[in-house]
Amino acid sequence: MHEHSRARSPLPPPRVRPLVAVLLTCLAACDAPPSTGPAPRGDAALSSPAPEPGAPLPGLTLEQRALFERGRGIFQTEFTPETGLGPLFNNNACSQCHEDPVVGAIGEEVETHQTAFHGGVCNDLSGIGGPVIQDSVTPALHAALGIDREPLLPEATGTAHRTTPSLLGFGLLEAVPEGEILALARLNNNAGDGISGRPNRTADGRLGRFGRKAQFATLGEFTAGAFLNEMGITSPTEPKEQTIHGAPLPAGVDPTPDPELTQDAVDATTAFMRLLAPPAPLPRTVVEERGRVTFVLIGCAGCHVPALVTGFNRVPALNLKIVRAYTDLLLHDMGPGLADICLGQARPAEYRTEPLMGLRFKTVFLHDGRAPTIAVAIRLHAGEATRARNRFLALSWLERSALVRFLQGL
Ligand code: HEC
Ligand code: HEC
Repeated sequence: MHEHSRARSPLPPPRVRPLVAVLLTCLAACDAPPSTGPAPRGDAALSSPAPEPGAPLPGLTLEQRALFERGRGIFQTEFTPETGLGPLFNNNACSQCHEDPVVGAIGEEVETHQTAFHGGVCNDLSGIGGPVIQDSVTPALHAALGIDREPLLPEATGTAHRTTPSLLGFGLLEAVPEGEILALARLNNNAGDGISGRPNRTADGRLGRFGRKAQFATLGEFTAGAFLNEMGITSPTEPKEQTIHGAPLPAGVDPTPDPELTQDAVDATTAFMRLLAPPAPLPRTVVEERGRVTFVLIGCAGCHVPALVTGFNRVPALNLKIVRAYTDLLLHDMGPGLADICLGQARPAEYRTEPLMGLRFKTVFLHDGRAPTIAVAIRLHAGEATRARNRFLALSWLERSALVRFLQGL
């Protein structure tokens, strides 16, 4: 746990020390309800009106608000083959998947990803149609090839299933300075509790944050990638259609000229996600408060860091804000039971600590939804999380249920 590492580990370099100090204070205090004094259940919401799920961050200018609305419109647009959909796709709108309980949150869709891992090196198979395997095709592609979906890739060494995560509050995660995340990696590597997070990196060496394996550095790149991989929509930075095993698509199946979407539309979609407010936790009674303390004490917070702080940002709504996301954005080895594919530098058993903000929207848990309850999800933690999991299993029934109730309110 961080409490221990503070005493034993050498101090991080001076540049990041103030941030680390804020973080450590945050571990102890930032997660408390924002009201002053003890607030009975319900009062916290009254004293500090939190945005409803799906609302924009508070404090936007009129112009930013208009951009948010325009981006939400594109996020909800149902594309057709005439407007660029396909020929290979998973669904026809971002909001077909990210929809529940509000636009931008979770969804029931589970998709298939494949990559190949040889000698410690990851090949995302993007040259031959990976890593996302599309489960639908347009009528024109069906007519030309007689297929209903992209065939699986025989070159793959791993196949993964992915549930649709919530995106609420993710603009704040993008705004967390890199130095803060790297400082967390140094801290937990020195803590001596078996936790050793490390960042993923893109091919050009930037720190990854988005996707279950933190394979994308920015929301903008994820957006362009999602338009292509989920909907078969090309844009200026992703100008080439997905292929079937690398072969050129049959003539005439994709009449829309590339790029099918303007950069301006991609940017507005990104701005919508960037400006989505994080879901405010539900008000807590002493039971959930007790669960929150236990969460920190048994070492869950070693990876699910309760709060991060954004850096200086020219958007005031993102500038120096606390984000109670319960993640360190680092990769952790979770043991062979959860392992599936590699991505970037992430090995098959490594996952980004899943943010727990918005956990209450979920009905199934872990990357592929294999856990029907929060308690099962915790039980399936292994690898670097073994000690925290064992401490959880050793708790009394009462302490365990308080912890779960705390998590159900996030
Ligand atoms: C077919 C369902 C589907 C559609 C359509 C879809 N997504 Fe997603 N989205 C997913 C899944 C599944 C993941 C998890 C991917 C992973 O873990 O690597 C995801 C992840 C994301 C993430 C990263 C979240 C994180 O945890 O870091 C962002 C950002 C995102 N989607 C944006 C979009 C945008 C923008 C669109 C529309 C252009 C879109 N998605 C369309 C299913 C979908
Ligand atoms: C070593 C780092 C680490 C520790 C310690 C850890 N977790 Fe996790 N946790 C993760 C990672 C990584 C995932 C994503 C795993 C996956 O999707 O397969 C995760 C996922 C979860 C999920 C499921 C989230 C979702 O959206 O499906 C819950 C709930 C959770 N952790 C709670 C806890 C609790 C409670 C503890 C303490 C007992 C804990 N974790 C300790 C890294 C950790």
